[in-house]
Amino acid sequence: MLETKIGTDISYAATLLQQGEVVAIPTETVYGLAGNALDTHSIEKIYIAKQRPLFNPLILHTHSIAAIEQFAQISDATIAIAQHFIPGALTLLLPKKSIVPDLLTAGSSKVAVRIPNHHVTLALLQQLPFPLAAPSANPFGYISPVTAAHVLKGLQHQISYILDGGTCSVGVESTIIEVLPQVVMVHRVGGVAVEAIQNVTNLPVQVVKKHTSQQVQTPGQLKSHYAPHTPLYVGDINQLYEQYGKGKRVAVIALRQMYTQPNITTFTLSENGDIATAASHLFEVMHTIDGGNFDVILAETFPETGLGLAINDRLHRAQVQWK
Ligand code: TXA
Ligand code: MG
Repeated sequence: MLETKIGTDISYAATLLQQGEVVAIPTETVYGLAGNALDTHSIEKIYIAKQRPLFNPLILHTHSIAAIEQFAQISDATIAIAQHFIPGALTLLLPKKSIVPDLLTAGSSKVAVRIPNHHVTLALLQQLPFPLAAPSANPFGYISPVTAAHVLKGLQHQISYILDGGTCSVGVESTIIEVLPQVVMVHRVGGVAVEAIQNVTNLPVQVVKKHTSQQVQTPGQLKSHYAPHTPLYVGDINQLYEQYGKGKRVAVIALRQMYTQPNITTFTLSENGDIATAASHLFEVMHTIDGGNFDVILAETFPETGLGLAINDRLHRAQVQWK
């Protein structure tokens, strides 16, 4: 059985990656499960370790805008927006060049590219002669990891090394955008607020609505994302409590309000109500609750501003399979 080690040795991680192995890496958003993005064998290992379906493409991580041009066509309009957030929690969807394997993009002619803002992984990327493919380092469908310990919990014996870079500061995945001639499409809300993107462009910024409500037809079949093992419901806490919480051990995820029912433990995400702070604590708290003794998780609906959009998106996906 594979032994999984946690450490801070960037050169060791680089050696493993050059041998075609996969390694968990820290980023400012969530931990990634990385392999050589130009090597189909390494990419296959990522899909296998995560048990991820092959139709779900991976993000290519590199260290500079100049490096991006080796892998994708990047327009001046894209650079004009991206330069405000790079390195950072912004992923760019771009027309791919042929050097990028089809397996990485699941057959799409577009590749998602990101420059993470984490000194450990930037140093690693600078040491390597290739970019890194990296989905979040969780088993498919489970909560994304924001510490090395979370990665270990989910992928022990699947990978040999976790490069420890501390707790992720942003705490939710990157925002994925595509800059088109007339509009900026947001394919996933995430660590860069939609308002922040709108502030640096005259183009309209449009969030693509994804269907997260397909749950009813085939309960249990459709594997939801970000889902804890404990059932989770989002909405008005007092109403949800009446429906699902009576007589149960209840964990509540709240922005700042404490709930006083004796069988409720409240986990507040931000004492002063700051929404970015709340986002940075979301997955950490979900991991803690899921590792505790709770029958049910009730989560508030967060304000739909700034990173509140990303919080609500992740919470709604987490509840899909239980509805
Ligand atoms: O913050 C992040 O983006 C983290 C860290 C590790 O960088 N990565 C991450 O990867 O969240 P993952 O694989 O968990 O989510 C990537 C998302 C998926 O929803 C995938 O469908 C989408 O990006 N994606 C990747 N490549 C794409 C492509 N070529 N076209 C459309 N969507 C793509
Ligand atoms: Mg993921």
